[in-house]
Amino acid sequence: MNMMRHLNVPNADVELVFNLLKQNCWHANDMLIHASDNGNYRLIPLNDNFPAEPSREFLEYEIINCEGKPDTRVDPNWLNHLSKLIKKQIFNKYIQLWPSSHEFIGDMMIVRIDEEILKFSSQIAQAKLEAHPKLRLVMSDGGVLGVLRIRELKIIGVREGNKLILQNIPTNLRNTKVIVKESGREILCDPSKAYFSTKLQTERQETLLFAKKLHDLLGRKINVCDPFCGVGPALASLLSEKNLVDNLLASDLNPDAIEILFENLTKWDKKSYTSLSKNLQWLYHDRLVGVADAIDVSSNENYIGKWDLLIINLPHRTLELLPKLLPLLDTNSPSLIRGRVVVEESNIDSINKKLNLILPNILHGSKKPELQIKRDYSSKLRLCSFEAWLE
Ligand SMILES: C[S@@+](CC[C@H](N)C(=O)[O-])C[C@H]1O[C@@H](n2cnc3c(N)ncnc32)[C@H](O)[C@@H]1O
Repeated sequence: MNMMRHLNVPNADVELVFNLLKQNCWHANDMLIHASDNGNYRLIPLNDNFPAEPSREFLEYEIINCEGKPDTRVDPNWLNHLSKLIKKQIFNKYIQLWPSSHEFIGDMMIVRIDEEILKFSSQIAQAKLEAHPKLRLVMSDGGVLGVLRIRELKIIGVREGNKLILQNIPTNLRNTKVIVKESGREILCDPSKAYFSTKLQTERQETLLFAKKLHDLLGRKINVCDPFCGVGPALASLLSEKNLVDNLLASDLNPDAIEILFENLTKWDKKSYTSLSKNLQWLYHDRLVGVADAIDVSSNENYIGKWDLLIINLPHRTLELLPKLLPLLDTNSPSLIRGRVVVEESNIDSINKKLNLILPNILHGSKKPELQIKRDYSSKLRLCSFEAWLE
């Protein structure tokens, strides 16, 4: 018998929990999710990497040790497929370099390929497509680049019906605009045109919790400002929450991101938005949306002093921009900044001090803002987030 740990999750939470496990590579992907005895729960198989002491988001779910059900439909281990496409000697030579992780965005996969094995991109794409029958398109990831933080992506394989195409991929099969489901909400994105990451899902759920806390503290709907909004993923859950958001400022420097944001807002906000990108303007009495440089937004006297929640997601510039963005906050009542920062781990203490110098007026009774490491950004750098409750 193949006994293994499973997470016992109510049917309604399965998608959310499964996505969280997938992001952390903690689910046993060669095993099936199956129903519990009473049918009200699903048992999600866990692999050996799932920590003995699970993190916060998993604490409410029971861990059950029971027999795993192998997924015999297709071999989900892409390396087994790859090993059949590449000579054994070469496969073994690069065994440490074959990509160990990937990111699913809708029915597409993004995979980082080490430069030394770029010449095997087609075989990697083929193996990934064979191992994941629902996958439509595979892209290699050259990293997030430039001011607009767009990933350098190259399509290396697609599926058309039963056929896999790995060379000279026709234009009509190169669609990278997809819908991603996150906590029951649909987010339209196009990672080749605007920044988007599924890895920030937990971050967005935390932001929602903080927003609700701020709403309760103020005793009214909150005014939300997201001046680096991209296609707007942080706003999906905030806007879906009834009576949470009053006024909204959503802007970004990237016109393509704003065009997709308009499509998203049309769905989330249940109002129609134009299909073409526009400069920042009031599109409704409570919706200030469009293309803008955050620096210009924060120096426009029509927009400053109005916002309760400020979201800053431009991690490599947060500290530099933070002082300039502060005037956006409404100082008549408590407010909250939710930010992300990329730092060297050894610098975290000094950055915390700097943060507290920039933000002196912490709300009485709340903790001083402190960077929390969320994940590795590179071998030395860490991606951190913080929240600052201000007086
Ligand atoms: C890391 S992405 C985050 C996007 C979005 N908030 C998300 O979570 O998917 C940073 C965004 O900031 C935008 N950006 C960069 N510099 C900017 C600036 N000076 N003013 C406004 N937006 C800017 C980029 O175009 C990009 O969409």
